[in-house]
Amino acid sequence: MTVKEIAGALAASGIEDASLEARLLVSHFEKITLAEALNAEICKESFTDEALLSAVARRTHREPLAYIIGEVGFYGEDFLVSPACLIPRADTEILVDAAISLLPPGAVFADVGTGSGCIALSVLRHREDLSAIAVDISKDALEIAQRNAARLSLSHRIRFLQADALAPLPEAVLTADAILSNPPYIQSAVIPTLAPELAFEPSLALDGGKDGLLFYRSLLDNCPLPLFLFEIGYDQGDALLSLGRERGFSASVRKDFGGRDRVAILSKMP
Ligand SMILES: C[S@@+](CC[C@H](N)C(=O)[O-])C[C@H]1O[C@@H](n2cnc3c(N)ncnc32)[C@H](O)[C@@H]1O
Repeated sequence: MTVKEIAGALAASGIEDASLEARLLVSHFEKITLAEALNAEICKESFTDEALLSAVARRTHREPLAYIIGEVGFYGEDFLVSPACLIPRADTEILVDAAISLLPPGAVFADVGTGSGCIALSVLRHREDLSAIAVDISKDALEIAQRNAARLSLSHRIRFLQADALAPLPEAVLTADAILSNPPYIQSAVIPTLAPELAFEPSLALDGGKDGLLFYRSLLDNCPLPLFLFEIGYDQGDALLSLGRERGFSASVRKDFGGRDRVAILSKMP
């Protein structure tokens, strides 16, 4: 297949950035740089490599590019991903920004629902004084997070715990200085209406219960910590302000790159 044929197949299956994605696939599987894959000369070549052709077929079935390639960029680093963990999203970088600027010196923070570990590891990379406890209910997700920690040479500053955030959390979490979390926050009824790619991501990572607020309530009610930094859905800002203020926190919301509510900051610190 030529790059043009690959792009055509991707476009026909409804992929918006078909031309760019075709070149990203060619770059990855033919082991050439993206700059080379973007060069007009590449259009003359026809690729027969089995791995590339099978990757194109997977993408036309709307499997996310990140799972096919096996990694994705987040906060300036490449993170390994697998279908066991959510693919890190650019909007989650807002939570990382908030944590880097707000966590007190020397703090131990828990990243609840760590997935690939992208939040905890990005914060640790930019704050050498901090250490982390990464929690997830999924053993397979924790394995990916551990591999990412090793790749970034951060394993000595992070502990990994398999635990259920909706049950009493381990003592190490309850005695941490802050909780960071991008928990599942999509309303159960909305999940079937999402883009086809979402069907490949673990439903465990998405489903926030009937009103999408299940994990926020549970963490706030069961963890006696002075600081919570949550990623939230674009329409959950007011709900999180209320949840926080009802429990005696001062609460504020930060917006994402698109101007939508994205991070809730709940603090009992002076
Ligand atoms: C929205 S994903 C966030 C993943 C990652 N932190 C990120 O931002 O890309 C939510 C994560 O919570 C985990 N999770 C779901 N239910 C959980 C539970 N009851 N206890 C602990 N973790 C849970 C999922 O396995 C998933 O990794």
